Amino acid sequence: MPIDPNFPKNHKVEEKFKDPLSESYHLVWGPGHLAEAASDPKVVADYKAAGEEIKPMGVHGTYVAVDWDSCVADGICLVICPVKVFEWYKNPGETGRNDRKDFTDKASPVHEAHCIWCMACIEVCPTKAIKVDQANQEIHEKEFANLS
Ligand code: F3S
Ligand code: F3S
Repeated sequence: MPIDPNFPKNHKVEEKFKDPLSESYHLVWGPGHLAEAASDPKVVADYKAAGEEIKPMGVHGTYVAVDWDSCVADGICLVICPVKVFEWYKNPGETGRNDRKDFTDKASPVHEAHCIWCMACIEVCPTKAIKVDQANQEIHEKEFANLS
């Protein structure tokens, strides 16, 4: 199922997620739910190879938001973004389509604040895992302040 367009209403902030290479944070919204990633053959195979169980991960980011339970590590969002908002979660700093660690990896909206609202990423994601909404910036600021 695609990302829930009303995730800020239907989910709660669970944590602040710090990018390992910079001082930037994004919010994580949960609870997650098993979705496309749990039935995608490449994702399932790589979890199995790693000896890990697929668990719900929730929505990462608020005004550039990626549902990590729907993200199947396709990588097209990383290369189409004109301002490099996304990096691979398990391969920090890398933005090439095939720079994912493996198919257990996820698109992390590390540079959410750089978004110029072109909407290219939401069009190309094969599982419609991304929602971009400038109006959610205010929600991000408020929730972030609550956590600080
Ligand atoms: Fe997506 Fe364009 Fe922003 S690719 S992250 S809407 S700059
Ligand atoms: Fe994931 Fe969709 Fe990007 S599957 S890597 S959010 S294009």
